[in-house]
Amino acid sequence: MKNEDMKKMHPGTASRGMHRIVCHPERREGSFKKKIRILYLLAILALCLMSGCGEKNSAVTEENENMHITVGFSQLGAESDWREANTRSIRSTLSRENGFELLFDDAQQKQDKQIIAIRKFIQQEVDYIVLAPVTETGWDAVLGEAKDAGIPVVIVDRRVDVKDDELFTAWIGSDFAKEGAVACEWLYEYTKAKGISASELRIADIQGTLGATAQIGRTEGIKKGAAKYGWKIVAAEPADYTRAKGREVMERLLRTNPEINVAYCENDNEAIGVIEAIEAAGLKAGADIKNGEILVISFDAARSGLNMVLEGKIALDVECNPIQGASVRGVINSVNEGREYEKYTYVTEMAFSADDTVQSVKIGDEDYRITTLTEKLLEMREY
Ligand code: AHR
Repeated sequence: MKNEDMKKMHPGTASRGMHRIVCHPERREGSFKKKIRILYLLAILALCLMSGCGEKNSAVTEENENMHITVGFSQLGAESDWREANTRSIRSTLSRENGFELLFDDAQQKQDKQIIAIRKFIQQEVDYIVLAPVTETGWDAVLGEAKDAGIPVVIVDRRVDVKDDELFTAWIGSDFAKEGAVACEWLYEYTKAKGISASELRIADIQGTLGATAQIGRTEGIKKGAAKYGWKIVAAEPADYTRAKGREVMERLLRTNPEINVAYCENDNEAIGVIEAIEAAGLKAGADIKNGEILVISFDAARSGLNMVLEGKIALDVECNPIQGASVRGVINSVNEGREYEKYTYVTEMAFSADDTVQSVKIGDEDYRITTLTEKLLEMREY
């Protein structure tokens, strides 16, 4: 395996040149707090030396404990393999060994629970809040409260749609619209190569949670693809990014729309549920549309989804990279130390196909590589 490929299998992050670099007052406050703590520690140390206490001093030990940066993390849920990988990434990076005290809250895909968690973090006077928001709207009030309390908020994964973008310090996540565009350009090139005409396609869009940035970007992608290439979307229904809902929705759709030959699933867990429904109906998930197979497209490229790619049941899996912990830590450390940081950071992502029919697609001016999945590549994946 080439070095370049190795690097791609452990994707990092890329920030975009045009993004604003912002100087926040909170970070000056953060470094001021730190200086006060250091002075306090030095004073205790001096007192300790003067009074001749050579051994362990409990005041010093206690203050050392308090040197951790306290972070409240409101994770939207545990609905998917992607989400669990995202939680692991942030938890393991914002660890005690790395100088953090992490308060974690799982909101079970409910925005009101996230708002309650954020208010609790504010009461607990955490140093930072990390928020993975379930949907885009409805955050102005609570983020305003965090701002008034002087607590910087780092948004991860999906975005918040707020009137004033100073309500959050930075955002780290995926380009969901680009993921949708990659999937559609691939579908166009693939069907063209196989001699399948645009008018033959009958697409079901198994959507994510309505109002989530991932859903908005990916649904927009298939709508634009359909308008550009003349495909027919016969159904679009949300399945909340879960396997159970994916199966339930597809079972119903196969009864009402038996002509469906493409399932555009907005994440891997939904795709796995959809494949279960296809098989339960006595049908086959695969790329041979001409012979009655249903072509499944998915997003995430989590291990569970990629196993289905290797089996040929998912034809294309567009990566959504959940490894965001290091970027979150980078922003927090920068704010804390008064250094500049990027307001918006996009994680790097790939796309994996079951066969090598299409090796790249054009996204604007970019030749976007489509990687044919092998067992070896799958072994190297982090999640
Ligand atoms: O917002 C990212 C999406 O949310 C991922 O595609 C999905 O798996 C998750 O639940």
